[in-house]
Amino acid sequence: MNVLACRPGDADTDLVIVSASEEQVSELGQWSAATGGELDRALASKEFSGKLFETFLTPIVADAYRPRRLAAIGLGPQKAFTIDRARRVATAAALIARQSKIGRVAFVADGAFDAPYMIQAIAEGLTLAEFDAGQYKTANYERFALQSSAIIVKEESHQAAVPAARRGQVIGEYCNMARQLDNEPGNTLTPSIFAERIADIARGGGLSVDVLDWAGLERLGMGMLLGVGRGSAEPPRLVTIRYEPQSAPPAPVLGLVGKGITFDTGGISIKPHLDMDRMKDDMAGGAAVACAMGAIAALETPTRVVGVIPIAENMPGGRALRPGDVLKSASGKTVEVINTDSEGRLILGDALWYAQQLGATHLVDIATLTGAITVALGKITTGLFGTPAFVDRVREVAERAGDRCWPLPLFEEYKDQLRSDIADLINTGGRPGGAITAALFLQEFTGGLPWVHLDIAGTAWAEENKPFMPKGPTGVGVRTLVEVAGAVGGWNLESKN
Ligand code: BES
Ligand code: MN
Ligand code: ZN
Repeated sequence: MNVLACRPGDADTDLVIVSASEEQVSELGQWSAATGGELDRALASKEFSGKLFETFLTPIVADAYRPRRLAAIGLGPQKAFTIDRARRVATAAALIARQSKIGRVAFVADGAFDAPYMIQAIAEGLTLAEFDAGQYKTANYERFALQSSAIIVKEESHQAAVPAARRGQVIGEYCNMARQLDNEPGNTLTPSIFAERIADIARGGGLSVDVLDWAGLERLGMGMLLGVGRGSAEPPRLVTIRYEPQSAPPAPVLGLVGKGITFDTGGISIKPHLDMDRMKDDMAGGAAVACAMGAIAALETPTRVVGVIPIAENMPGGRALRPGDVLKSASGKTVEVINTDSEGRLILGDALWYAQQLGATHLVDIATLTGAITVALGKITTGLFGTPAFVDRVREVAERAGDRCWPLPLFEEYKDQLRSDIADLINTGGRPGGAITAALFLQEFTGGLPWVHLDIAGTAWAEENKPFMPKGPTGVGVRTLVEVAGAVGGWNLESKN
């Protein structure tokens, strides 16, 4: 990500991207001469009127300019402008450039964009546009990659913009890495391969990593993770990543826990075939944790963080869990498995306990946990649960990070739905409030620490193309986790509700 402090017309790039709100669209008229009058014509005819994501691409004909093309993109109404819009507009513009086979782009960050957090968001947005989902295509596939992207700033903003742009680029690249993992099918991302890929990411970022196999999980008594893993020929794993910057105080220690089901058939409580292929992304939470940790380390975030990723394939093999089986968790609590398709909470329960053993003082888990969260919040918003003060903080951070989320309650009364006749808990609370009872199950394993649970079952995968997000894996949560790690040291959070 280059940061250029020059006149946009002097930038060494193929495409200059300029933007305007509906109210300020006429200010783009300054570019009209460069485009041989095309821009004035487009403004006059309302072909371009500044509506959100509206784009107008035209050649630059005047010799005094280095770039050969101009893209104008709409910001929508001025009063609706936010950091997240800046990020999305940058992605949308860079995606248009890719579609038009334009390799080098430069985004003009003047006016409302001229602040470090905006520069970061633009850099994130431009980087997110680099994601390519065609990793297994061979024939008839034109892969067109952006060669370089740049942000053009005012001379006096340059110094502050350089680190902000780098931050945005690093975060964007780790988001794309998570999307790449989410896109891998179950056969190329078995539990052992997923564990290796995570270890590579961690080691690449200079982090220490530890991978436990079956025997290691038995030593820890992780009956819930082992139980879920039992039905598959591919044995489960538990990956631990530690980030321990010398400069950071001994506490807080942020524990990040991500669901890593490499494929979820449902087990013996098998899922219907329709859209079952989607269950390859049931490890999106685990990928988000691994990639967030990579970014946290790359950005030298001054907070201790431990990542715990329980990994299994939920299959209905001959040794699989039966409905009614009772499992003993690492924490000692016993669980009656009513439905083998409620496997995420089982593996997360053991992992949340383990994060505490590793010294976590604050817990954030992220998981494609329930279909019920999509019933409640649709595919736009991540479900947010946890201890109230921590929930409020994460909500603010997520908003800036561009991961929409919204809180749901954890009232005591729902716990009746998790009562077992023979064990401490059952693993499924039935249809009413399904995302809430899932979160309450997790709460049993948080030891009363400040804790947040993000249910990304609706948001990890985009079902349709949007101007700022092609359909497929979204990388949801990575940016939020990175920003939470940066901020958690300064927060004063009570541990009890
Ligand atoms: N991985 C699924 C949740 C899911 C559903 C993610 C749709 C993405 C899209 C989870 O393991 C699951 O199967 N949950 C069950 C729980 C139920 C049996 C209580 C569900 O939501 O149907
Ligand atoms: Mn399931
Ligand atoms: Zn699942």
